[in-house]
Amino acid sequence: MSDDGRLVGGARQRDERDNIALRPKFLSDIIGQDRVRENLQIIIEAARAREEPADHILFYGPPGLGKTSLAHVVANEMGSTIRVTAGPSIERAGDLAAILTHMKQGDILFIDEVHRLGRAVEEVLYPAMEDFALDIVIGKGPAAKNVRLKLPRFTVIGATTRLALLAGPLRDRFGARFRLDFYDEGAMAHIIDRAAAMLDVDIDTEGTAEIARRSRGTPRVALRILRRVRDYSQVRADGIITAAVAAEALALMEIDPLGLDDVDRRILGAIIEKFDGGPVGLDTIAASISEDSSTIMDVYEPYLLQLGFLERTPRGRQATRNAYEHLGIPYTNENSNRQQSLF
Ligand SMILES: Nc1ncnc2c1ncn2[C@@H]1O[C@H](COP(=O)(O)OP(=O)(O)O)[C@@H](O)[C@H]1O
Ligand SMILES: [Mg+2]
Repeated sequence: MSDDGRLVGGARQRDERDNIALRPKFLSDIIGQDRVRENLQIIIEAARAREEPADHILFYGPPGLGKTSLAHVVANEMGSTIRVTAGPSIERAGDLAAILTHMKQGDILFIDEVHRLGRAVEEVLYPAMEDFALDIVIGKGPAAKNVRLKLPRFTVIGATTRLALLAGPLRDRFGARFRLDFYDEGAMAHIIDRAAAMLDVDIDTEGTAEIARRSRGTPRVALRILRRVRDYSQVRADGIITAAVAAEALALMEIDPLGLDDVDRRILGAIIEKFDGGPVGLDTIAASISEDSSTIMDVYEPYLLQLGFLERTPRGRQATRNAYEHLGIPYTNENSNRQQSLF
């Protein structure tokens, strides 16, 4: 996802390697998301006791919260082979048919960005998920015949940042659906500690807390910040990450005390200053700050909504009083009158 968009070449590859090494392997490595973890535990234990594949599972929520990690955890816990693919890379129905014919009993098919599957591909997926069957047409014209192939029982795990874009029938075929939420500060601190230990980073409790507070409740963001702060501490300090060192490094990265970065501030600033606080459509905001509207929707907006800085109304996005205060812009009566008259 593009929240790593500013990194180039080597740094991104190194980060990717770290991310894979840091990925939780078993349910017991998962920090936070207690409800999800408990439900998964039950699904897995029950399936194992019955010696059957688990039900199809869907994970949804903002990027960086652990969807891909959880898919791998389920595979590890089930002792299953996992095949990884993504919506945009399955272009034709035949591509999916080829994948499906290679699945074995109990295998897991992980489909990332499952909302981006084409309609024709979805049509092949439905009977495969529901009846473990693959319908193919043999021959052409009047002589064509429909043949139904039996598939072994397997599990589909889907991940998406946009539940709303998932076709209803596809959503319904996932027997278990889990929304991942932003992590609280305690869980974030725990995740940062674990990563620091694995990456051999020297950090004290206050340093951890500082990064935890500014990581927008998102493990991937915390891990990225941890690496940048480690670099800073090596070059500008004595290699130990304290609260002061973390704060200096974060200031240099233009990440504010709530974890907002330059793009967040430009989004809020545009709504307030160019559009009078809103409501204004997402595409208009995106165009006015030259950002991609799906990046805003997937990466930035969820956290701004969570902070209560942004509201979604039928007529568009609206900045709240808290957003004005955070940016230090006076909140005028005119704004609040208009907000009230909306309802
Ligand atoms: N619950 C968690 N506990 C520990 N680390 C986590 C957790 N969730 C995510 N991570 C870390 O955050 C990184 C991003 O998670 P990922 O599964 O790729 O998110 P998503 O697929 O939702 O974008 C992973 O490399 C992993 O190390
Ligand atoms: Mg992912």
